[in-house]
Amino acid sequence: MSNYHIKHLEEYYQVYRKSVRAPENFWEEVAEEHFLWQKKWDNVLSWDFSKPEVKWFEGAQLNITENCIDRHLATRGDKTAILFEPNDPKDDAEHITYNQLHQRVNQFANVLKDQGIKKGDRVCVYLPMIPELAIAVLACARIGAIHSVVFAGFSATALSTRINDSDCKMVITSDGSYRGAKTIDLKGIVDEALKECACVETVLVAKRIHSDIDMKSGRDKWLQPLLDTASTDCKAELMNAEDPLFILYTSGSTGQPKGMVHTTAGYMVYTAYSFKNAFQYKEDDVYWCTADIGWITGHSYIVYGPLANGATTIMFEGVPSYPDFGRFWEIVEKHKVNQFYTAPTAIRALAKQGLELVEKYDLSTLKVLGSVGEPINEEAWHWYNDNVGKKKSPIVDTWWQTETGGIMITPIPFVTPTKPTYATLPFIGIQPALMDENGKELKGNQVDGRLCIKFPWPSMARTIWGNHQRYKDTYFSAYENKYFTGDGALRDEVGYYRITGRVDDVIIVSGHNLGTAPIEDAINEHPAVAESAIVGFPHDVKGNALYGYVILKDVGETRVHDNLRKEINQIITEHIGPIAKLDKIQFTQGLPKTRSGKIMRRILRKIAHKDTSNLGDTSTLLNPEVVQDIMDNAL
Ligand code: WTA
Repeated sequence: MSNYHIKHLEEYYQVYRKSVRAPENFWEEVAEEHFLWQKKWDNVLSWDFSKPEVKWFEGAQLNITENCIDRHLATRGDKTAILFEPNDPKDDAEHITYNQLHQRVNQFANVLKDQGIKKGDRVCVYLPMIPELAIAVLACARIGAIHSVVFAGFSATALSTRINDSDCKMVITSDGSYRGAKTIDLKGIVDEALKECACVETVLVAKRIHSDIDMKSGRDKWLQPLLDTASTDCKAELMNAEDPLFILYTSGSTGQPKGMVHTTAGYMVYTAYSFKNAFQYKEDDVYWCTADIGWITGHSYIVYGPLANGATTIMFEGVPSYPDFGRFWEIVEKHKVNQFYTAPTAIRALAKQGLELVEKYDLSTLKVLGSVGEPINEEAWHWYNDNVGKKKSPIVDTWWQTETGGIMITPIPFVTPTKPTYATLPFIGIQPALMDENGKELKGNQVDGRLCIKFPWPSMARTIWGNHQRYKDTYFSAYENKYFTGDGALRDEVGYYRITGRVDDVIIVSGHNLGTAPIEDAINEHPAVAESAIVGFPHDVKGNALYGYVILKDVGETRVHDNLRKEINQIITEHIGPIAKLDKIQFTQGLPKTRSGKIMRRILRKIAHKDTSNLGDTSTLLNPEVVQDIMDNAL
């Protein structure tokens, strides 16, 4: 039996049981049958969560780009690999075949080599959703350089922090980007960031908006002329199974962003296998994930997972609202999309628009709908199911994380019966556990706890770049011998999982993870601010929005509060990016604190949620009197 493509529920249970009883045999079989290895492994898995150390397919040698590109050339050379849909619908879409992708990745890889990039070097990629982004990522992988893609919506400060953290030698960017009706000066942001980055020697600049930009001589180089003269042959670097493939930053509840390190073989096997099954991808299907490659969803399910299966994957440069809110559906009709994968925040924004924008387009090619990034509420689920899927296309509510590399809990379409707001069953090979407050595993069904994973899976992150101790503290210290996700979940009477949300100080706004501490640090930089605390509150489109409580240094601050609010959001935009702006800012005389000086966020959260009926015991606070005052002035 080939375990590679699951087709009915019985088979799911059978394969699942096999994958849990004998994980090594299971993954070995998948790896043997479906990938190209230059050398096979000596050992499938070794692991020790107490260190933590996890190694898959040790001893194996491979290059992921040979698996994503070269091995398809004989049978799929003229098939579209990447279908680029530009920001402006009047511009032509670009079909990049596997043959063309092969040439372009090789040329780019040769340019990287000519510029002195070697195996193991870190390369920061700060590009909009244009083909060069996917090609740059693959070119790095071709020569064994470690890519660190930074979402092109992050500010100069956020970019420089990430560049310095992983000591990148090169930045790949563009002269600008289109975002709906706006253009963004990406190169200007890079220039600003690089004032703080001594490690960067070279900046390669792709042309996108043809704007007149400053090029710093000796450092900045236009990409195209270099590509034009580069050879289309580039031997793939032989990589060890556990060599790092990329670093991708994610927010933590405290401190600097965490550079999650993903390695080569396990990541490839798991993203390919999960892509195939979670979307039931068939040859000749057109698959579209609307995420940005700056996030893990784009890495695993726009680039690596689809290409490892020889799929056609769409890259969309624009936004759902441009030129109008029918854009997604127009693209589905135009490219006859079969699998469509997006985020609940996009679904909620589109559901607010008139139905005629959906009904105007032929969506009959859609077979599978996906959701990712945050819990999908019941209303959005039904809107998606009724109006986009016409009740015929199963919704796969896929739960996973930057850290997990691939989808962890999800229905398999046409296999697992779906249930609104439930991510349903663990994917093949995944062993979830729910934990109670005392660190005991909750057995059986109808339980509610903290979500952990108790056995390694191939695509898990192996460490945090430069800080293994933090990796251990964050993920492997809360519960013995288990990976802790930071999420809460419940298991219903049939064993389906529903993710209830973060249990730490990470807030998911429009599907983006935001740590509260870095935002507070940014606000506290404002000369008028003494202290601040951020919490989330429900928002009908973004899922959560941010509520800031701010204490001013000078209580008699004469400047109007509205100006201060603007300035505070401006500082946040500069330090992190516009995605972290606060929706509400309340100025207050004090923040509720415990006797040890810790801010009681639970109380602030309740006030922001407008749920003050049961604030719990506030008498143990250092300053119980501020609670009433905050409530009286709540926004
Ligand atoms: C949340 C995105 C509910 C969760 C792939 C997780 C979800 C965090 C879902 C990771 C889902 C992601 N249902 N919550 N289907 N998918 N999340 O690292 O809180 O950007 O821990 O990875 O998003 O976000 P990240």
